Amino acid sequence: MRNLLAPVTKVTQTRPMAKTSKPDMKTIAVYSLKGGVGKSTFAVNLAWASATLSARRTLLWDLDPQAAATFMLAPEAEARDAARAVFSRNVEPTDLCRPTAIANLDLLAADTSLHGLERLLFELGKKKRLSKLLEGLDKVYDRIVLDCPPGLTETAEQVLHAADILVVPVVPSPLARKSLDDLVATLVRRGGKHPPILPIFSMVDRRRKLHAAALETHSDWPYVGYASIVEQMGVRRLPLGAFAPQSAPASQFAAIWSAIERRLSKD
Ligand SMILES: Nc1ncnc2c1ncn2[C@@H]1O[C@H](COP(=O)(O)OP(=O)(O)OP(=O)(O)O)[C@@H](O)[C@H]1O
Ligand SMILES: [Mg+2]
Repeated sequence: MRNLLAPVTKVTQTRPMAKTSKPDMKTIAVYSLKGGVGKSTFAVNLAWASATLSARRTLLWDLDPQAAATFMLAPEAEARDAARAVFSRNVEPTDLCRPTAIANLDLLAADTSLHGLERLLFELGKKKRLSKLLEGLDKVYDRIVLDCPPGLTETAEQVLHAADILVVPVVPSPLARKSLDDLVATLVRRGGKHPPILPIFSMVDRRRKLHAAALETHSDWPYVGYASIVEQMGVRRLPLGAFAPQSAPASQFAAIWSAIERRLSKD
């Protein structure tokens, strides 16, 4: 486990970074075996930080048919039912990338066609289809954030091949911790190369003993606290940085983004 988890440093401030002039695109996947741990919330806020704090040309690619990130970022997204067709190469990814209300941030929206993605990917039998599609976007974007469905699905297999880093939200509970351990064990079993894992505590409530103990055990893991302002993202349909930039979780996401950029710049 120790060798697989990417070292992360807690930071309290982020500074705007210069936009890259050469294609050096990186893919950040927000992924977990477990559902409901905050993946979509992370994906939207990290994509905002990339676009706004780092001034990077950023794409949020929503791979989850539940389309939570799409809901939060694109109040008027037109449902074209074409998200799956990108994988069968009937539609170019760039044809589906749409600007959002946030400067520098585009969205490749999820739609109901993604319900058939697992079967399509299984039938295609090409484990690197997502990697190839991402390669085609490297002149357009500096950072691509993937919001992934939970579980060890065919989509997850594609993501594990394609991502430069896996951001794994972990609610401080034994079950969530078990799912992180299961993910690491799965990667070890598979062998070969895989992206570094960045575990990040999600929905932390320090008043709870289990949470406080988990934070103490992994004092080097960044965290996002439990806060009702985060739930407001579903009402405002905006990233936190766009409507509550001074809030504690907005600062925590900014610090996490800064740590991710540092980790990526080491590669
Ligand atoms: N830090 C937080 N504080 C309070 N509520 C939060 C926080 N993070 C996420 N939530 C809420 O928890 C719920 C689940 O979050 P989210 O949809 O991001 O999880 P998920 O891992 O993407 O779920 P799924 O596996 O279903 O895709 C949402 O209602 C969200 O608003
Ligand atoms: Mg989600």
